[in-house]
Amino acid sequence: MKKAKKKLQHIIQLGVEVSQIGDLDILLEKILNESRDLVGADAGSIYIKEEDELKFSYAQNETLRKKLGRGKKLIYTTFSMPITKKSIAGFVALEGQVLNIADAYKIPKKMPYSFNSEIDKLTGYETHSMLTVPLKNNRGDIIGVLQLINAKDQKIIPFTEEDESYIKPFAMYAAIAIERAQLTRTTIMRMISMAELRDPKETGAHVNRVASYALEIYEHWSHQKGIPQEEIDKQRDAFRMAAMLHDVGKVAISDTILKKPGRFTEEEYEIMKQHSPAGARLFSGARSDFDLIAAEVALTHHERWDGKGYPGWIDGQTGKPIPKYINRRTKKPRGKKGEEIPIWGRIVALADVYDALCSNRVYKEAWTEEDVLQKIREDRGKHFDPEVVDSFFKVYDQIKAASQRYPD
Ligand code: C2E
Ligand code: SIN
Ligand code: SIN
Ligand code: SIN
Ligand code: FE
Ligand code: FE
Repeated sequence: MKKAKKKLQHIIQLGVEVSQIGDLDILLEKILNESRDLVGADAGSIYIKEEDELKFSYAQNETLRKKLGRGKKLIYTTFSMPITKKSIAGFVALEGQVLNIADAYKIPKKMPYSFNSEIDKLTGYETHSMLTVPLKNNRGDIIGVLQLINAKDQKIIPFTEEDESYIKPFAMYAAIAIERAQLTRTTIMRMISMAELRDPKETGAHVNRVASYALEIYEHWSHQKGIPQEEIDKQRDAFRMAAMLHDVGKVAISDTILKKPGRFTEEEYEIMKQHSPAGARLFSGARSDFDLIAAEVALTHHERWDGKGYPGWIDGQTGKPIPKYINRRTKKPRGKKGEEIPIWGRIVALADVYDALCSNRVYKEAWTEEDVLQKIREDRGKHFDPEVVDSFFKVYDQIKAASQRYPD
């Protein structure tokens, strides 16, 4: 059978592709996109096992997305549920077998599980066929559940045995890739908590929010710019991890300054500003796209569009000012301005300030949403790249949804 052989080749290719993704959020998106494509599913979700719960971690729904219009993405929230045989996903996580249900609303009463129609009621969407697949790593441990919803061929049809035979090998590659991306994320979190010496939970939420906002803004901005999808896909993964690490240079700043429970003096602030070049040095030597982007983000996330930011034109390796940019009077290099600042720095600047203003800090209270948005509008073309601000407002719904997925 030619068709089946082609499909298996495609699945192996997908296995290679998912193994190259480092960021967990981007990986879940890729896995759901590709698995829906493999079996022609209209919608789907991924649950990740966290101790004795299943966390609803990611969702797609083509029908609901189309209703939103071009360029808009589905808003979803995460929640956790206990792993019991009463839910479909829980049953699959416990049994470790694929469950192929032709119609979720016609599950016989004698089954231990039943369909929870709450989400359908909220969204107005009708779930019928459901293919629910355990995500097993290479040791056979269940790390999550992949749920594909509503096989589509003009109208909604049940998933076939053939669909099952394609999704099973893909689910194995997916599970292995998820486990590795979880390890990468744990490593990033450890680097950050070493750098900040704060409650790692609080810090983890801040960096995940900043990274998610930065990614939403980048996607809008890059489409607006007509950057080819291939290039966007290539950079997104590295950028999300780089954005999480924007402040990793704080590892070089003393605890007394870092944790000062009040406003900085001028001298203290000058020392704190060293966190930008210190972060860049950690990624110098630039071996990969990731090293390159991470170095640029660390170095330039406090530059300002109007040129009044820091650290300005310094050598990323040595931290020394670049002679031709030194101001004779102040002896300091001038700030980078406008498009001299790499796009990564321009985007993280806004994502970071937005999150900082919305949050409590040891030295200040959170601002109201209205004041934060007002400040961002005022700083359009001053602190921030005007195009980046415009993209921020265009994806503001998604930014709000991301902030709820990573609460403090
Ligand atoms: P952060 O708290 O994550 O803040 C990131 C950036 O958000 C700040 O960069 C600043 O541009 C903006 N931001 C935060 N809070 C406010 C605010 O109340 N008003 C205004 N207008 N902007 C705000 P910046 O200033 O370069 O600071 C970098 C980092 O230095 C901060 O990161 C924070 O960790 C630390 N920091 C800055 N000022 C103080 C301070 O007075 N006391 C202490 N303890 N830490 C400070
Ligand atoms: C389940 O698997 O039962 C929960 C998901 C849903 O009801 O849509
Ligand atoms: C990029 O840095 O890849 C985009 C070009 C720019 O800086 O505007
Ligand atoms: C800031 O946003 O970093 C404070 C300076 C300003 O834009 O007024
Ligand atoms: Fe910073
Ligand atoms: Fe920050």
